[in-house]
Amino acid sequence: MKKKLIVANHKMNLDAKKVSVYIKLMQTRANYSNVLVCPTSVYLPFFLKQEYKVGLQNIYFGNSGSFTGEISAEQAKSVGASAVIVGHSERREHFNESDDLINKKIKSAIENDLNVILCIGEKINNKKKMKLIEEQIIKALFKVPKLEKVIIAYEPVWAIGSNKTPTNREIGETIFFIKDLLENKYGYHDFPVLYGGSVNKGNISTLEKIPGVNGYLIGGASLKDEFFDIVEYINNNNEVTNNNY
Ligand code: 13P
Repeated sequence: MKKKLIVANHKMNLDAKKVSVYIKLMQTRANYSNVLVCPTSVYLPFFLKQEYKVGLQNIYFGNSGSFTGEISAEQAKSVGASAVIVGHSERREHFNESDDLINKKIKSAIENDLNVILCIGEKINNKKKMKLIEEQIIKALFKVPKLEKVIIAYEPVWAIGSNKTPTNREIGETIFFIKDLLENKYGYHDFPVLYGGSVNKGNISTLEKIPGVNGYLIGGASLKDEFFDIVEYINNNNEVTNNNY
């Protein structure tokens, strides 16, 4: 089995002082090759000096030009980032990101040899959710080459930052629905799928019982010491081999 991928999404949190405390904390904990830290972009240079892999929370789809405030995949790659989160529900909601834009970002990331964490998930937990998830995936991956550079993160929007999670059974069913879709439509067996939404130290042992989950995308709990406890828990409970993230 491949190592589970554990992604920290810091979002727009921590000031410079807190980042320096966080980095000191990282240095005291074991370095695991299956952890990807996605800090607020302004702090990237600090994180890139550490042993952990580093990703961006967002990119623009062009390589360079007059796009004030944006960061390209080409630039991200040039500083040593290895991955980017694309299609997070907060970007879809607050910045009106469309499936088409998300598709362009994924293509640009792959052209520039970045790995992609593609976020998808329903706003409301109802019967329509599988159809919505299917649509999000198909539109995001339209004509995307090298699908092996993509990992899907299933994040039910209602579970983000709410301290609520779906049941293990619900998560498992959705994860296998996504894997089946990727197998039937694109011929990828056992496509990697992460779970995200209120993952914390208190529920990780329960979540770890779900078959098929290939890792986690963690927000709030990734800002604290707790994150490294979660990483240790997962790695101590899984037989692992190296992966490329
Ligand atoms: P929380 O872990 O804070 O619920 O956030 C999840 C998330 O949005 C990660 O991208």
